Amino acid sequence: MSHHLAASCDDYRRLAERRLPRFLFDYIDGGAGDEHTLAANSRDFQHVHLRQRVLCDVDNLDTRCALFGQPASMPLALAPLGMAGLYARRGEAQAARAAAAVGVPFSLSTVGICSLAEVQAASANKCWFQLYMLRDREAVQGLLQQALANGCDTLLFTVDLPVAGIRRRDIRNGMLDPGWRGKLAKASQLAQRPGWLLDVGILGKPHHFGSLTDQVADPNDLRAFKAWLDAQFDPCVTWDDIRWLRQQWPGKLVFKGILEPDDALQALDCGADGIVLSNHGGRQLDSVSSTVCQLPAVAEALDGRLPILLDGGIRSGADILKALALGAQGVMIGRPWAWALAAGGEAAVAQLLAGLQCELAVAMALCGVKGLVAIDGSLVGA
Ligand code: FNR
Repeated sequence: MSHHLAASCDDYRRLAERRLPRFLFDYIDGGAGDEHTLAANSRDFQHVHLRQRVLCDVDNLDTRCALFGQPASMPLALAPLGMAGLYARRGEAQAARAAAAVGVPFSLSTVGICSLAEVQAASANKCWFQLYMLRDREAVQGLLQQALANGCDTLLFTVDLPVAGIRRRDIRNGMLDPGWRGKLAKASQLAQRPGWLLDVGILGKPHHFGSLTDQVADPNDLRAFKAWLDAQFDPCVTWDDIRWLRQQWPGKLVFKGILEPDDALQALDCGADGIVLSNHGGRQLDSVSSTVCQLPAVAEALDGRLPILLDGGIRSGADILKALALGAQGVMIGRPWAWALAAGGEAAVAQLLAGLQCELAVAMALCGVKGLVAIDGSLVGA
């Protein structure tokens, strides 16, 4: 299979570009505005330099760790991506299986195509669930109950989407027009991939909006579903609502989408169990800083009182090591697993993850550390 030739995230990106209908590739690949923040996320890792150390015993090197109490083979989790079931047939279930095989957590988005029950059944690992606050708090309670019933104990509560960012590629591709089912099919034909939506089981089959299926009147009516969802995103949520959420959710509560030290401290005050330092992969406010730029200040403010996961622009094992050296406990990857999934399904996602783990181990060895506890600020320099 062609994905055997892939050796980097960018290789999977190119393979995905060849396979996916244009509108879907752009949906995954794109960011907000001029995509400056999107570009900065990965570019700014290039400006962080690792220090090579020689003649250290790095035999029996170990990348294992715990993420929110869950054992993992390396400090990495798959970030929640909406509609990943459009990138491959039963996409979220495939990716969750690959994550479990490699031993890292998979996160299911509120707007996943597969339900948490399906994803959890496919995976030997506990999945994480990502929540967007909906106006209908009973629907939110329903989602949380589903998550608990499926054994999920880590909730990623996404706080950086009070309104949707303006993604120009999606506008140009007609992704946001009403009647988008027609647009999807048309865009698919334009991309000369008329079979894609059939391949992934979206056309000609009942639609399932995973976790949300129980919350809408007719889950097979895409137009009604989108209208319902658009009306459900709640821009009124404030820190005051967190008390309510904290009461509803007995498990680990992680705030995803924190970028500023003051907000990290607020999350700490609200009883968070951790944060994901994230700018939503450059998809929300274009011109905010890259996440790696923000990391030192946020880590300093939290001073070890809350674990930090960082996402945005992680494209190699060296990037993971840099994030840990600058104060993160782990990282998440978004687009890379979507590209691999589109390129070659479960096998490609597993291969991507194994490749990142290998790169992390090699980078650690060349920096002279053989375990994650030995990673600190002394590993990075000018
Ligand atoms: C996302 N992201 C996201 N985040 C979230 O909390 N819920 C969601 O449903 C989605 N959906 C989504 C779709 C797509 C196509 C992308 C690319 C991203 C953000 C995601 O979880 C993560 O923060 C970023 O993707 C990390 O940046 P990288 O790794 O893509 O650079």
